[in-house]
Amino acid sequence: MIVILRQPSCKPGVCPPTLRSTTPYQPRREASGVRVLVIGGTAFLSRAVAEIALARGHEVVCLTRGTSGDPPPGATHVRVDWSVPDPDPQLRGTFDAVIDVARRPYRGVRLLTDRMYDRAGHWTFVSTCLVYRDRSTPGATTDAELIAPDGGGPYAPSKLASEQAVRLRFGTRALIVRPGLIAGWGDPSDRFGYWPERLARGGTVLAPGRPEDLIQWIDVRDLAEWLVESAERRRSGTFDAVGTPVGIGSALGSMAAALDVPSELVWVPQEFLHSAGVVPWSGQDSLPLWVRRPDDAGLMARDPLPTLNNGLRLRALADTARAALAWERALGSHRERKSGLSPARERAVLDLWRAGAR
Ligand SMILES: NC(=O)c1ccc[n+]([C@@H]2O[C@H](COP(=O)([O-])OP(=O)(O)OC[C@H]3O[C@@H](n4cnc5c(N)ncnc54)[C@H](OP(=O)(O)O)[C@@H]3O)[C@@H](O)[C@H]2O)c1
Repeated sequence: MIVILRQPSCKPGVCPPTLRSTTPYQPRREASGVRVLVIGGTAFLSRAVAEIALARGHEVVCLTRGTSGDPPPGATHVRVDWSVPDPDPQLRGTFDAVIDVARRPYRGVRLLTDRMYDRAGHWTFVSTCLVYRDRSTPGATTDAELIAPDGGGPYAPSKLASEQAVRLRFGTRALIVRPGLIAGWGDPSDRFGYWPERLARGGTVLAPGRPEDLIQWIDVRDLAEWLVESAERRRSGTFDAVGTPVGIGSALGSMAAALDVPSELVWVPQEFLHSAGVVPWSGQDSLPLWVRRPDDAGLMARDPLPTLNNGLRLRALADTARAALAWERALGSHRERKSGLSPARERAVLDLWRAGAR
């Protein structure tokens, strides 16, 4: 049974700033499941969060426009567009936890946290590892220097401004999570999935850089599980959500072994790839999991230990690769990719490389 012990102490969004560091919200004591608001809930990470929260016995409300489909069965759907100036959500009651996953403008974060600060027991905000200034140093932690926040700016500065808005209103009730590359079922970016899809086709595979170059990722299910578990425990602070860095050669080898399709990796140096017009990281004509070195050598080599020591559990790469491949196949292998090389382009770059190497 869900019992709300206390109603809001003042109208959301109109309390004076001094009140904002207090904790008007009182958690329920008797419920086995708690009431969770997921900002998002119909796509990729936010959907996984909603699914896991439901599976763990929580009451789940998902806030989306409704253009990405429905939330998982069992969740309540509140339809709101956070890109409009005053979305006026039809949200009722209090929430033990808000897990704010959806990528959306700072303005929306401000509005929602203003409205909800006294109606939420705990607030998780999903940010990004791109908020760090230095991208070149492997092993960095959340102590590293940050970029300048900018609420009206592009993705990363706006995420950082949003983090600050969440901290201002929720203080010790706030958990800020900065994921690196998220992988698995539902990934809309076509990045990680490029590799299992490519390796499953077998043959000669163009591999970027050097096998020992470090990469890291986090399975969407592991991240979602940790977000829900952290909300249950009311974990606070700031964490990077990343997997253990490994050499890209070892990672591609493990994926190929898991998919059990023979392939040969041909390692092509980054300088050649740049000159051939292949782009690192993401986008058309890119090779995902490849970053510019040394400038971005730390981007996929952050220190996962603080988060692992706080309960994050990581599954085997084979599991993530199979899930990502299943998603690739659900999307269709012949689609135009947002990231990765087409088979023809990969062949052309390999031919160029071999011609130069002779
Ligand atoms: N992918 C990565 O590798 C990566 C890495 C680091 C951090 N992140 C962060 O991880 C999160 C990923 O979230 P996600 O997978 O759930 O995908 P998302 O694209 O950030 O959010 C999708 C969800 O938000 C809803 N939504 C989008 N725009 C909305 C709007 N204007 N008003 C109301 N709802 C809206 C969508 O439903 P409707 O479309 O129906 O509205 C959907 O449920 C993001 O915060 C992202 O910045 C991602």
